[in-house]
Amino acid sequence: MHQRRFKFQQSNGGQLAITLACRAPPEEQAGRTLTWQIGDSNASNNGASEQPADAAGSAAPAAPASAAAAPDLIGLDIWPASIALCRYLAAHPQLTEGLDVLELGAGMGLVGLAAAALGARSVLLTDYEPEVLAHLASNASLNGLQQRCSCAQIDWRAPSQGLATGQRGSWRLVLAADVLYASVVVQPFIDTLLLALHPQGVALVGHQVRRAIVLDPASRLPRLEECDEPLERFKAACAAGGLAVRLLGSRQTCSYVDTDPMVLLAVGWPSAAEVLERLPEPAPNGGSNGSSIRCDGSSDGNANSELQST
Ligand SMILES: C[S@@+](CC[C@H](N)C(=O)[O-])C[C@H]1O[C@@H](n2cnc3c(N)ncnc32)[C@H](O)[C@@H]1O
Repeated sequence: MHQRRFKFQQSNGGQLAITLACRAPPEEQAGRTLTWQIGDSNASNNGASEQPADAAGSAAPAAPASAAAAPDLIGLDIWPASIALCRYLAAHPQLTEGLDVLELGAGMGLVGLAAAALGARSVLLTDYEPEVLAHLASNASLNGLQQRCSCAQIDWRAPSQGLATGQRGSWRLVLAADVLYASVVVQPFIDTLLLALHPQGVALVGHQVRRAIVLDPASRLPRLEECDEPLERFKAACAAGGLAVRLLGSRQTCSYVDTDPMVLLAVGWPSAAEVLERLPEPAPNGGSNGSSIRCDGSSDGNANSELQST
């Protein structure tokens, strides 16, 4: 495991620093864009049943069919949308201050730990993969945030098993980064939001737009899909489930080799419409306040990205 240090510029001029033990070395992380070969025949399985391909479209080894058969370790890496979401939170600490926060699909916990460091009263860091959960707990300790953070297993496919009765409909702030990485995870994720969100609550979802590489049936040549299928499915399924979605920001990234846009979405019940409306937009261009949802290296001197890997 590598230790990586992330720094985010805060609106008060300070810096928020989070250290994580995670799997991928930065150069490997930077060079990767995942696309997913999506098949609805996998719908009864989890996201791990889908096959990642690298940026050149070459198929990676088949992912496991179930977490029981082989662990789904996608959460051991740090995904760019989590950095983007952290920047937004660091620029707007009032969004987390004093709140009990739920993070879904936390992976290494960058977003939830940032929320705790920014003044959330408590953060429940959740994931479904036991090995990922073990790292989550140790990352909380690594940052001295174990008092304010707890970890729990929540599987979106059975959210009522992970959320106690008293926790249902109670969360005023839910955070999730890069959880819409495959179509099959979209509906279970929304089911979890529907169960978790307080009537006045909001979920902030950071997402890197990814258009899958598909084989054109006519030409037999690879081509990029027209749109990000999981994202479109997410918007449609939110509407079908009665949730309102506000696009807070969308911009091109310059994250090493990734050129796909980063989007930040806010989701809530119609009764939270005013709360959604009041949410600040991310600052343009990754400006000096560091609140942009751009996700990149530290080339602009904003000190917003990982500075050290050991
Ligand atoms: C692409 S990773 C993103 C991790 C982290 N949020 C980040 O941005 O670095 C997706 C995360 O969702 C979790 N996940 C996938 N399917 C899940 C499910 N059915 N229930 C709960 N978590 C799930 C994975 O274990 C992983 O941690």
